[in-house]
Amino acid sequence: MKLLLLCLGLSLACAHVEGKPNVVKHNINMTKAAGVWYSVLLASDDREQIEENGSMRVFVQSMEVLDNFSLYFEFHTIKDGKCTDINFVCDKTEENGVYSVKYDGYNTFKAVETNYDEYIMFHLQNVNDEHNFQLMELYGRDKDLSQDIKDRFVRYCRQHGVPEENILDLTTVDRCLEARDEKETQGEEEA
Ligand SMILES: *[C@@H]1O[C@H](CO)[C@@H](O)[C@H](O)[C@H]1NC(C)=O
Ligand SMILES: *[C@@H]1O[C@H](CO)[C@@H](O)[C@H](O)[C@H]1NC(C)=O
Ligand SMILES: *[C@@H]1O[C@H](CO)[C@@H](O)[C@H](O)[C@H]1NC(C)=O
Repeated sequence: MKLLLLCLGLSLACAHVEGKPNVVKHNINMTKAAGVWYSVLLASDDREQIEENGSMRVFVQSMEVLDNFSLYFEFHTIKDGKCTDINFVCDKTEENGVYSVKYDGYNTFKAVETNYDEYIMFHLQNVNDEHNFQLMELYGRDKDLSQDIKDRFVRYCRQHGVPEENILDLTTVDRCLEARDEKETQGEEEA
């Protein structure tokens, strides 16, 4: 009982002890966010973009911050049934924390939430000749994330107009994990 009262009084501290994420939503430090990631959930208000053979159905492997502060992302995508490397350099824009990249139109995106050592959420806006759309991505440092973190992402998507049926769980599909392992092994052999 005493412990319970203490927890109520110190709810923040106790929540932290229980492993609640140390959430950062502003001024996210991309250097701290760099490194290895796995795509866990993927969402869009245009579902076709993230379905099989959709151009935005990409699976992250890593992100680095380059010397000129651009971001370098390594992804895999399934092209003609085969896992294929696809990499992007994304330059900073004038808006704080917002990056841009040309791919299937013009994209701007930012990291919107992270705790650095477990998960990160990105929100992207695509502008193209036909039909603009938005994309949300949830990455984990590990292959899967807690339900708690997934729920945070689902809530974020809903708040930004993406319904739950447009959120894909990539842990149950082919995310090119094998291609990724091969690449890592090759990297070690070359090193
Ligand atoms: C971002 O994180 C890196 C690595 O931890 C650190 O060296 C740098 O000072 C941080 N930048 C800011 C603006 O806090
Ligand atoms: C930053 O460096 C990368 C790699 O050299 C390059 O591809 C990119 O165009 C550069 N971005 C800017 C804005 O200079
Ligand atoms: C995706 O492309 C592959 C290979 O081109 C094809 O076999 C498959 O039917 C396509 N899937 C969908 C859902 O269109």
